[in-house]
Amino acid sequence: MAYGEGFGKVILFGEHFVVSGNHAIVCGINSKTTAIVEAIEGENYELVDKRPETPGYKQEKFEQQKESLQYIFKAMQINPKETPIRITLTGDLLAASGVGASAASCAAIARALNEHFKKGLNNDQINEVAFQGELGYHGKPSGIDNTAATFGGLLWYQRGNPPTFEKMKSAGPVEIVMGNTGVVGDTKKLVLGVQERKEKEPAKYNPLFEEAEQIALKAKEAFANGNIEELGTLMNRNHELLQEIGVSHPKLEELIAIARENGAIGAKMTGGGGGGYMIALTPGAALQEKVAKAMQEKGFTTVQTTVG
Ligand code: MEV
Repeated sequence: MAYGEGFGKVILFGEHFVVSGNHAIVCGINSKTTAIVEAIEGENYELVDKRPETPGYKQEKFEQQKESLQYIFKAMQINPKETPIRITLTGDLLAASGVGASAASCAAIARALNEHFKKGLNNDQINEVAFQGELGYHGKPSGIDNTAATFGGLLWYQRGNPPTFEKMKSAGPVEIVMGNTGVVGDTKKLVLGVQERKEKEPAKYNPLFEEAEQIALKAKEAFANGNIEELGTLMNRNHELLQEIGVSHPKLEELIAIARENGAIGAKMTGGGGGGYMIALTPGAALQEKVAKAMQEKGFTTVQTTVG
């Protein structure tokens, strides 16, 4: 029986803008997806998906997941019709939009297949396979999610072939609250929608993309200096840019308002949007608890973690 795992992630700055070549900041979170691969008697592969989920997520992503597996098999030159396998997904990462659930599963599956079929791939090659898997879910992934899922940590990322990324300097970990809208977003549609609108309306979109790059650069510096106030201000502005490119959602806005009313230093959506998660910057355990509780009282589920 072979085993592999992949981290969940939060994008702190630059989602969507990263697809067009901007820099972005991402952080792996402690929750993971694990994959187990074992040989079976049969004619093909079986997928047993035991991940906890936002209701409806797995159903919504079922076809994309099948497509993703084909990309992974192809990238690893595996033919389950010749060597039938069962893939079982578990772990404590909620299968939901915005936390890199698809990328975490791709990295976990790639690692477990690597062990089962003794392919001898290193982490960079696992990351490349996970990127191929992400094609099934995203259409045009920047590669940021699979990189965070494979390597974890706080990363400064830019797409490319190969992508460039480095571990970022940080003055220390800071508390965040992740609020879940409970709405499943269609990342593929959202990403392609932004790209199409950018093509059609360059006069509106190009300045927004340029400002997003400046925000990411300033946030990198603020992390290194431990300037939390500045990080909060930058997050708020980053969220406004995401609103302007049309990827927020009323439930994200509701959660962001709750976070700010309860003292969060900054708040923004995270990931593809159209639902999924938002993040609130809440330095100190007391503020983190207060903001999380306020969200829970309105019926939302939350994750409390640290970044940096
Ligand atoms: C999704 O988690 C992040 C996006 O920027 C898409 C991508 O970078 O592949 C929306």
